[in-house]
Amino acid sequence: MTNIPLPALTQIPPTIASVTDYEIFASQRMSEQAWAYIAGGAADELTLRENTAAFQRLRLRTSVLADLAGGNTCLQLFGQTFAHPIFLAPVAYQKLAHPDGELATVLAASAVQAGMVVSTQASVELERIAHATQNPLWFQLYLQSDRDFTRDLVRRAEIAGYKVLVLTVDAPVSSARNREQRAGFELPAGIEAANLRGMRRFSGEGAPPAGGLLLGGPLLAAAPTWQDVQWLRSLTRLPIVLKGVMTGDDARRALAEGIDGIIVSNHGGRILDTVPATIEVLAEVASAVSGRVPLLLDGGIRRGSDVFKALALGADAVLVGRPYIWGLAAAGAPGVAHVIQILRAELEVVMALTGCRNLAGIGARTLS
Ligand code: FNR
Ligand code: LAC
Repeated sequence: MTNIPLPALTQIPPTIASVTDYEIFASQRMSEQAWAYIAGGAADELTLRENTAAFQRLRLRTSVLADLAGGNTCLQLFGQTFAHPIFLAPVAYQKLAHPDGELATVLAASAVQAGMVVSTQASVELERIAHATQNPLWFQLYLQSDRDFTRDLVRRAEIAGYKVLVLTVDAPVSSARNREQRAGFELPAGIEAANLRGMRRFSGEGAPPAGGLLLGGPLLAAAPTWQDVQWLRSLTRLPIVLKGVMTGDDARRALAEGIDGIIVSNHGGRILDTVPATIEVLAEVASAVSGRVPLLLDGGIRRGSDVFKALALGADAVLVGRPYIWGLAAAGAPGVAHVIQILRAELEVVMALTGCRNLAGIGARTLS
């Protein structure tokens, strides 16, 4: 059975009141295969579900009659000022969601002043995305087994004006995304990792190891290690943020290795099933980092109150993945902008009702 995707919306239905209201509109506008890729998680999707469920279990603590005059949601990270703490997470192959792909997303990001992290596996070249905005972007890097190519990629990102490198370290092996497998997902013709054109492929890369053996095989022999982080450090003066840290131990090691920032992430539940929700490990990581470098979190953010809860437990900012892809698939750039606008407006309501006039006021005392 195959569905025929509907065309993107040309106006936003007034019945869309929350971010998750976009999900159904998005699913109707993508092939079943592409939808399985975007929506799915690893194995039984327990971590995928837990990312959102864990936020829903946390309770807010109100504070009445607080003086909220002169409030704002601004923050500074790596010398850049952001109007609010909601970033667009790196998401590969955005042309799967909308023909304009990352170019629609970057337009929306500048309209709503959101920081955007561009994926190594973007379906549009990193230079074209950067040229479409005046705002400095961040670049998400996957270390490729072709290290010369990786070096050139970093150079390209620097030349194009990217301000921060986000090194994703939680996905050295491809995992079993069963929903994707069952749907028979393959990249359609015309959609590719545009930044990786011309790269030498290491044989067996990305494929399941022959005979099912991973340890001792060529894939893990070429997988990045802390040594490669030092190599990257020697290549660039850009701040390096590690994405995919889930424990205090790894956070401490990252700081010892000179990492400039940390993103608590389980890749949206897409890599290793049954690891905890990100919000559940945030306090452990925050205590290891203890304010020495910026700390961000992603995974399961669907409400402004989720953004608030992450900040209350120690994050400086958050990233969202699937929610803005829903907006993109449903309505292109206006959909992405609307998703961020909804989250931002919800965050401000929570701040007002918990007595926080700025982000610095959000802390453990604002949770029940
Ligand atoms: C991702 N994510 C991701 N992360 C990354 O570092 N590089 C990438 O190319 C991608 N690609 C990607 C594709 C798709 C379809 C999804 C859904 C996610 C992970 C992403 O950056 C982020 O960690 C999660 O999406 C956050 O969880 P939520 O907000 O989707 O629940
Ligand atoms: C994913 C890879 C591209 O999550 O990061 O699909």
